[in-house]
Amino acid sequence: MTMHTRTLGTTGPQVSALGLGCMGMSALYGEADRAESIATIHAALDAGITLLDTGDFYAMGHNEMLIGEALRTAPAASREQAQVSVKFGALRDPDGGWSGYDGRPAAVKNFAAYSLQRLGVDHIDVYRIARLDPGVPIEETVGAIAELVEKGYVRHIGLSEVGADTIRRAAATAPISDLQIEYSLISRGIEDEVLPTTRDLGISVTAYGVLSRGLISGHFTPDRRLAPNDFRAMSPRFQGENLQHNLGLVEALRAIAARKGVTVAQIAIAWVLSRGEDIVPLVGARTRERLAESLGALDVTLDDADLAAVERAVPADAAAGDRYPAAQMAHLGSK
Ligand SMILES: NC(=O)c1ccc[n+]([C@@H]2O[C@H](COP(=O)([O-])OP(=O)(O)OC[C@H]3O[C@@H](n4cnc5c(N)ncnc54)[C@H](OP(=O)(O)O)[C@@H]3O)[C@@H](O)[C@H]2O)c1
Repeated sequence: MTMHTRTLGTTGPQVSALGLGCMGMSALYGEADRAESIATIHAALDAGITLLDTGDFYAMGHNEMLIGEALRTAPAASREQAQVSVKFGALRDPDGGWSGYDGRPAAVKNFAAYSLQRLGVDHIDVYRIARLDPGVPIEETVGAIAELVEKGYVRHIGLSEVGADTIRRAAATAPISDLQIEYSLISRGIEDEVLPTTRDLGISVTAYGVLSRGLISGHFTPDRRLAPNDFRAMSPRFQGENLQHNLGLVEALRAIAARKGVTVAQIAIAWVLSRGEDIVPLVGARTRERLAESLGALDVTLDDADLAAVERAVPADAAAGDRYPAAQMAHLGSK
């Protein structure tokens, strides 16, 4: 495995070509094992992954405290190379519900103060609101993060799941390093408008859902039982006929993976890596085994014939079902 680096935007940091998304270690994908989660973060740092992604609302601070513990217990050299990307702004209920977004400047600074404390760090490397707060102009939210940059509490400003117009307005307010957004073989909505916009403005993409939350990992089986609070229990792509159809696409990928002597997950990650130097996949590995598989994608080269075979197996728009339930689609700037 060879760890390369990519630069986020024209002003952003140099990060590992693969990032580790830590969400599933605390929330949304059922039970996770705390010791294994920390061992996975340590193994990622050890392998040269520098970028760790989280959100302050992933199990209400749990994920940040987990990362904080992993950083405290990592060797000093690993700790120093770590770059933490934090999303804020999603409002939660004590019963786990979601109740909107808050991007007001005072709220931004409040969220940041708590995140710094939970993570046990003196700065956040990339800070971004998780979704646009429709009640607050993006200029105000980004302007508040820019003040945190001036004070040294934040290094770079990112965006998450916003459309072309918001990206342009944010970039006119302050330098933006990257847009975090879903991008995978079966989620290609950004290619029409969002990706041309980020490229025009010199903004990178940190891609999540590269394995479509496990759906196209090659490990997901139709008989898998999901807890009621597992995101996938409500995701249109994991339901009934949609699931059958989507897993059919995975079987077509499996044939290509077998010919190349790699795994389905490695093909899916390598495909995102192949889409441009401005794209950094965030993989949601929660165990060292899954992490090792993901890291293997860095050494998978897809030549023109491979890419054409992948496109034939999974054409753009091949997925059945939206990537989020309807109520959550309404908060997104791209399909
Ligand atoms: N900005 C946003 O709106 C947003 C939204 C969602 C996520 N994110 C960020 O992006 C990160 C990645 O997203 P994601 O977790 O949905 O991504 P993902 O990598 O598409 O999905 C992770 C899931 O895939 C399964 N998986 C199977 N094989 C794997 C392998 N080799 N490597 C990794 N996972 C494998 C894991 O299941 P098992 O553990 O059960 O095997 C895990 O549940 C999150 O952790 C979060 O930080 C951002």
